[in-house]
Amino acid sequence: MAHPTVNWQGWQERWDRQQEWYLPDREERFRVMLDAVEALVGDEPRVLDLACGTGSITARLLRRFPGAVSTGVDLDPALLTIARGSFEGEPRAGFVTADLTDPDWTARLPYDSYDAVLTATALHWLKAEPLRTLYRQLAGLVRPGGVFLNADHMPDPATPRINEAERAFSQARQEREKAAGVQDWEDWWREAAADPVLAGPVAERFAIFGSPADGDHADGETHPVAWHVEALRGAGFAEAGTAWASLTDAVVLALR
Ligand SMILES: C[S@@+](CC[C@H](N)C(=O)[O-])C[C@H]1O[C@@H](n2cnc3c(N)ncnc32)[C@H](O)[C@@H]1O
Repeated sequence: MAHPTVNWQGWQERWDRQQEWYLPDREERFRVMLDAVEALVGDEPRVLDLACGTGSITARLLRRFPGAVSTGVDLDPALLTIARGSFEGEPRAGFVTADLTDPDWTARLPYDSYDAVLTATALHWLKAEPLRTLYRQLAGLVRPGGVFLNADHMPDPATPRINEAERAFSQARQEREKAAGVQDWEDWWREAAADPVLAGPVAERFAIFGSPADGDHADGETHPVAWHVEALRGAGFAEAGTAWASLTDAVVLALR
């Protein structure tokens, strides 16, 4: 449904600010992912934006590569409403509703193969076994010579003192920014729930995932980079390694 009065760009910007409160280097990791896409599959890629949310990766992809096309896939009706509204009339972008833990989710996609599958800040919502299953499905979706890139939290349990120092440092930054008025996850969802156009999809979203106040994705898991590399190799990717890393997060790149 078209909503001509909605300021989709405003929702996108507030989503970006809210995500950056958690990930101040979010934009840098998107750039690294797109550099890897260009290096390995060129500048006219067919891309799957996996767990796309509002379509942040799709937006950067289409801005940088005029000849790219993107399919965004997500389960969240509210974030997909923003994505579909933002990209209305953009023939290079399409969005699909699917649950990545559904064994048949790939049947909903408009293509049966992609040059690149990109995902950010999402797969830690899945537990280890569903994630291994998803990696096997992605090895079937990425064409030979194509790439998969996963930017996510990948803390290493073998470095507890480093992890603790990073946690304290980040918490202090977040407190300063919160005092200056930056929205966190709960604030952003509160505002979305109060919006007349988004209220319905947000209620559906809370029915699927629970509300942020209920700990909407608290049951996921994180793994260190080495776990992802081993899982991707085991799933059928030929090579896998680190494209970027911080103290807690990384972009893992796998070549099919
Ligand atoms: C923190 S958001 C990140 C969105 C986007 N990639 C970004 O960087 O802005 C995590 C996304 O994962 C999606 N997600 C989590 N579990 C999912 C599942 N089982 N199936 C489909 N999408 C899922 C959520 O709906 C949400 O859009």
